[in-house]
Amino acid sequence: MRIHWLKRFLDLLMCMTAMIPIRGATVADPHSYSQPSRVALRHLDLDLRVDFAERVIEGRATWSLDRKDPQASLVMDIRGLDLLSIRTAPQGQTLSHRISPNDPIFGSRLEVDLPEGVHCIVIHYRTAPSASGLQWVGPEGTAGGKQPFLYSQSQAIHARSWVPCQDTPGVRFTYKAKVHVAPVLRVVMSALEQEQASDRPSGIFQFDQPKPIPSYLLALAVGRLDFKPIGPRSGVYAEPETLEKAAAEFVDTEAMIQAVEKRYGPYAWGRYDLLVLPPSFPFGGMENPVVTFATPTILAGDKSLVSLVAHELAHSWSGNLVTNATWRDFWLNEGFTTYVEGRIMEDLFGPERGDFERRLGYEELLAELKEVPEPDQRLIPDFTGRDPDDGVTRIPYEKGRLLLYQLESRLGRERFDSFLRGWFTNNAWKSVTSEDFVAYYNAELKPEQDPALKGLNLGEWLNKPGIPASATIPVSERLTKQVELAEKWSKGALKTADLEIREWSTQDWLAFLNHQPLTLPLSLMAELDKKAQLTEKSNAEVAHLWYLLAIRSGYKAADGAIDAYISRIGRRKLVVPLYKALLGRPNGQKRVMGLFEKARSGYHPITSGTLERLIHEDQ
Ligand code: BES
Ligand code: ZN
Repeated sequence: MRIHWLKRFLDLLMCMTAMIPIRGATVADPHSYSQPSRVALRHLDLDLRVDFAERVIEGRATWSLDRKDPQASLVMDIRGLDLLSIRTAPQGQTLSHRISPNDPIFGSRLEVDLPEGVHCIVIHYRTAPSASGLQWVGPEGTAGGKQPFLYSQSQAIHARSWVPCQDTPGVRFTYKAKVHVAPVLRVVMSALEQEQASDRPSGIFQFDQPKPIPSYLLALAVGRLDFKPIGPRSGVYAEPETLEKAAAEFVDTEAMIQAVEKRYGPYAWGRYDLLVLPPSFPFGGMENPVVTFATPTILAGDKSLVSLVAHELAHSWSGNLVTNATWRDFWLNEGFTTYVEGRIMEDLFGPERGDFERRLGYEELLAELKEVPEPDQRLIPDFTGRDPDDGVTRIPYEKGRLLLYQLESRLGRERFDSFLRGWFTNNAWKSVTSEDFVAYYNAELKPEQDPALKGLNLGEWLNKPGIPASATIPVSERLTKQVELAEKWSKGALKTADLEIREWSTQDWLAFLNHQPLTLPLSLMAELDKKAQLTEKSNAEVAHLWYLLAIRSGYKAADGAIDAYISRIGRRKLVVPLYKALLGRPNGQKRVMGLFEKARSGYHPITSGTLERLIHEDQ
């Protein structure tokens, strides 16, 4: 009898393993050396000391292992790490290991021999001052100007430069951390802080991330930071100089969280805070769990650029909860997120704003399709052997959103929302592939039998370049109106004096400036500048478009403002196109070299790398 029950139980277990596809671990990730199907990392205990003078983090990473194959050694990813020792825990026995030569994109393969019975190891290490995942900002690059700042950016494959890990989104682990810093500084991580500020010994911070995360969501920031609550589970970390402005900009955060929860299920991470970084941050935002990292360039004073918050928040479902198994399936992170971002914006600010941003995104996609080679226009591109950072184009974001938008318009919102909710619920805490999506789509929607999905070829969306002919094209009346005004005005059919700019929102300006010809007559530039003070505009996105026009048109009055903008801001999306435009001008190379020389030390390696390649190509 006993044996019978035991057998039933074992059969059931086997059967469960067969039924639940072990996602992530079964797909090969070309961007990681690790072999998680043999030995996988499950929990991390970090103990870090941040040394601003040396620009080094010295740390101990204690990893718990899941030894699926007891014979196998442990393979991890590292880049530029100085390994001081690798030992068993808690015994402290030294482990033999091998490190492959450094590859400029992938770093090194670390292989650690594992004697029988070892389930935990401690790696004592130091990061390199040039670690690709860390930016050490001098006091001059901060708002306060007195204290330095450090922040990490791990996505896509930079976690390995500051924590030895299995640097693939197919592996998830929980983590705890203890971080030692100078007493005036504060530490923020992608985890819940463990003690109330009043109980905390000065200079020591402790964190707990009880939910399993992939390595690209490991995050750390250290600076002279204050905190201000903005909602029941949200707040803002920023330098004191920017704290109030940031808190005012982000007041709608709780409403945003609730907008997603009501459609796609509960927020899973406890808190949702925002951290305002120095302007050198190369991205707009990064969806680190518990705390989104954001560029200060979205602090426009009128909430006009908070779609970025909606975007990073949406990642709490698409990306952080349901994660692309490898960077090949990046669209599952970014396309879904861009779609959900649009729904949040519509919920909070009305359908006109939703339509507008969706259409703007579509136009950005059209522009990008002119630049990106055909194989990389597929939603499932092949980035084997290449840096996954180079796959960050508008394609996964906007073509991904366009696919979901097409499904939404075919199925109706109610049905599509429940389809999406099911996707998030069924795949929570898993890493997923495009094949998983196709299987879910077929099982859930039975497209063969559904007239609503007739003529929609999912394979074409995923595996062919360009936009399928069946796509539903977003329209925005407001944007169309601005485009008409832009065309009339630039052709001289509408006088500058007759533009009713007083009523224009940031979005109206973006549309108007985006639809100007490549160059404008200097007289028109001067008239518009006089009327709207565009050269002095503090909205970083509007200023960006105006400066592009100014450079291409040779409008010298903006030169000083452009130089200041370029040396202050390191957000790649905003500065790289300006450099490109400058290089296209007579004597552009000389001005660019001068500017880059001055600004370079303030840029993140991601931005300076892109600019170096650009300038080099031009020579
Ligand atoms: N996760 C991305 C940023 C990212 C992607 C960093 C790939 C490194 C590699 C983030 O969610 C994002 O998409 N940020 C955008 C802003 C967003 C509103 C489109 C950005 O930074 O521009
Ligand atoms: Zn994103």
